[in-house]
Amino acid sequence: MAIYFDSAATTQLDKKVIEAMTTCMNDEVGNPSSTHSFGRKAKNKVENCRRDIAAHFGAQPSEIIFTSCGTESDNMTIKCAIEDLGVTRIISSEVEHKAVLSTVKVLCGDTIQIDYVKVNESGEVDLAHLEELLSTSDKKTLVTLMHANNEIGTILPIKKVGDLCETYKAYFHSDTVQTVGHFPINFEEMGVHFAACSAHKIHGPQGVGFLYLNKKIALKAMLIGGGQERGLRAGTENLIGITGMHKALELCYATLDKDKAYILELRNYMKEQLIAQYGDQIRFNGSEKNFLYTVLSVSFPNNENNGMLVFKLDMKGVAVSGGSACNSGASLGSHVIRGIYDNAEDYVPLRFSFSKHNTKEDIDICMAELKELVEITVIV
Ligand SMILES: Cc1ncc(COP(=O)(O)O)c(C=O)c1O
Repeated sequence: MAIYFDSAATTQLDKKVIEAMTTCMNDEVGNPSSTHSFGRKAKNKVENCRRDIAAHFGAQPSEIIFTSCGTESDNMTIKCAIEDLGVTRIISSEVEHKAVLSTVKVLCGDTIQIDYVKVNESGEVDLAHLEELLSTSDKKTLVTLMHANNEIGTILPIKKVGDLCETYKAYFHSDTVQTVGHFPINFEEMGVHFAACSAHKIHGPQGVGFLYLNKKIALKAMLIGGGQERGLRAGTENLIGITGMHKALELCYATLDKDKAYILELRNYMKEQLIAQYGDQIRFNGSEKNFLYTVLSVSFPNNENNGMLVFKLDMKGVAVSGGSACNSGASLGSHVIRGIYDNAEDYVPLRFSFSKHNTKEDIDICMAELKELVEITVIV
């Protein structure tokens, strides 16, 4: 039996999303830039999707720029902030997704100052340190901090960060890939200037996402060509993907409270089972207070056996994700785990991430497999 506990990596397509995309594939032949009736029909579809998507986030349609994925949206923000807005300093954290962390490192080179705000063992950003960093420089600054951490699930107090950025006149980008579709979101109220979304995290298709770009921010083209996406990202729109993302968001927000309660119950159940089975021999990663209900990150003592847990569970038909599969310091595979703990190498992290398609039975089966597979002794 195959059990999928990796929905933070990607989610199963919703059947209604497949239907909407299939209808679009059958019905639409026009290029949205063509002026004939086929093109105008396709263009209408893109713009209707944009209008409805914007409405979920209290945004204006012109603030939604369709992209190919969350990574592109993050890249576009950081690149354009440096090149078009004259940002000379970036404040970020060591526990960001690589779509931000690596982009910041590569694009900043020697000329742009990078400061990393402190995070505690729960992955929570030290807001006093952030304020100190913001108050001690006059450089044009971009703050880029993710809304929810994809590995450990810790949630940023995004409005507080937005308020600090407003006080110190910094631009604020948040990678909202793990929260869009899982929480009610109003970008403007949160004080966010840029935010990234990816459709495949919310039962939509892979290869499509959007960048929320606040109307007050003027950028130049990220991709040059036909002038699509208000001249910011040239290239024929991914009409089928956009249609799928539109449907996925509609479905998420229609049943948000019900799905949230169901998934949270699954997460709580798994946590209780793990505590009952392993007590204080394991450690849970991430905040106990402000957490993403779709993610449960737990670490087992590092030993030769547990270093292979992701692989061994996979052999039993249970898909989870974790750190590196190598025995010697397995957790070295996770920059997030290394970013929050001094003794990261003593533990092997496993991330269980849930969706509305999981059941308690999945958890019972997984717990039975873990009972067989986990070796609790620390081998030194
Ligand atoms: C927090 C976060 N940001 C960005 C991404 C990248 O999104 P995409 O796969 O759409 O490029 C992911 C996906 O793993 C993510 O979890």
